Amino acid sequence: MFQSLTPLPPDPILGLSIAFKADANPNKIDLGMGVYRDAYGNTPVMSAVKKAEQMILKSQSTKAYVGPVGAVDYNDTIARMVLGDALANQLGKRRMTVQTPGGTGGLRLTADFIRKVNPDATVWVSDPTWANHSPLISAAGLKIQKYPYYNYETHSIRFDEMAECLRKIPKGDLVLLHGCCHNPSGADLSREQWQVIRDLALETEFTVFIDLAYQGLGDGIEEDVNGTRLLAEHLPELLIVSSCSKNFGLYRERTGALTIICQNEGSANTATTLIAAAARANYSMPPDHGASIVQLVMDNQELRSEWKHELAEMRDRINRLRSLLVTRIKEADINDDFSFIEREKGMFSFLGITGDQVQSLINDYSIYLVNSSRINVASINDNNIDYLVSSLAAICDGN
Ligand code: LMR
Repeated sequence: MFQSLTPLPPDPILGLSIAFKADANPNKIDLGMGVYRDAYGNTPVMSAVKKAEQMILKSQSTKAYVGPVGAVDYNDTIARMVLGDALANQLGKRRMTVQTPGGTGGLRLTADFIRKVNPDATVWVSDPTWANHSPLISAAGLKIQKYPYYNYETHSIRFDEMAECLRKIPKGDLVLLHGCCHNPSGADLSREQWQVIRDLALETEFTVFIDLAYQGLGDGIEEDVNGTRLLAEHLPELLIVSSCSKNFGLYRERTGALTIICQNEGSANTATTLIAAAARANYSMPPDHGASIVQLVMDNQELRSEWKHELAEMRDRINRLRSLLVTRIKEADINDDFSFIEREKGMFSFLGITGDQVQSLINDYSIYLVNSSRINVASINDNNIDYLVSSLAAICDGN
């Protein structure tokens, strides 16, 4: 049965880490996978997380199952982090949250749920979007279409075209939006643009599905969910998948959640039974460790402020690196304009170079980035910026 299998090409993001590890060049730089890196190139365990972990080790009294929807307290904590207390209270039992194995697990659970509710639904994703959105949604058996999003020439959102496209989306289809720190472009919707999307969703009755993987990495924990909260306040139904991989640095602990807002409590309860069944059929129950850490950090005043402070440092560092990169590129007399990098948010931006230039950075300079020219800004540091900028100058001048 397995004799005639054809191997698949490496994953466009994960494959870069493998190639990077195998590269012997001492100057190599990994701008590929979206993990936060500090000034020394490490992805450290956050101090608040480490402390919570030690407390859990001492006090945990059972490893019994948590159940398909996960821990009730954690679910409430995440809903409050995403929606804020006032809105979470206002939505009451119209809102249900389910713990998931990371953001990806939450996205897959949502896709399975949608497939049950409306097998003919199409999920509309931004052009471009995270490289794993399409495979994941298609694997759940749903159709995919793209709406216009990023203009590679002006480095801004093609909002008129996006709105024009959304206006025609039929009821029953879903529109997947990035809550903040758009991956891969770093170009985020303004408040006015979120308002237009809200009005379009009310008018044409498509369902919005938000992927919120970077809360706190853009402008701030509260600021980054302004658009999400605007929609949650006004739309009758909404799906939000959130992740603690980045903002708590819990990547491998697979810590995420799916929040669903329905028209009334009855629908929310029914939807939860379907979501719980999808979880049970997929992985039975979510892992506990990361969720317990988040719960403890958020419950403990001291750990919570320490976490907020650490997250702010990460965010500020990324924003400083954006400015630094733009300045250093200007100083290197590279003719192309890269100033847009400073206006974008979160871990990623496109360099806006061609596929051939990307391949040259990888093959000739050992600088690893996604083929779309997406870079992880957090991977830049004092030790690699000179090499990065001089390599960029070389490949830009060469064209
Ligand atoms: C990324 O976009 O690089 C991250 O979300 C990691 C991943 O799983 O792709």
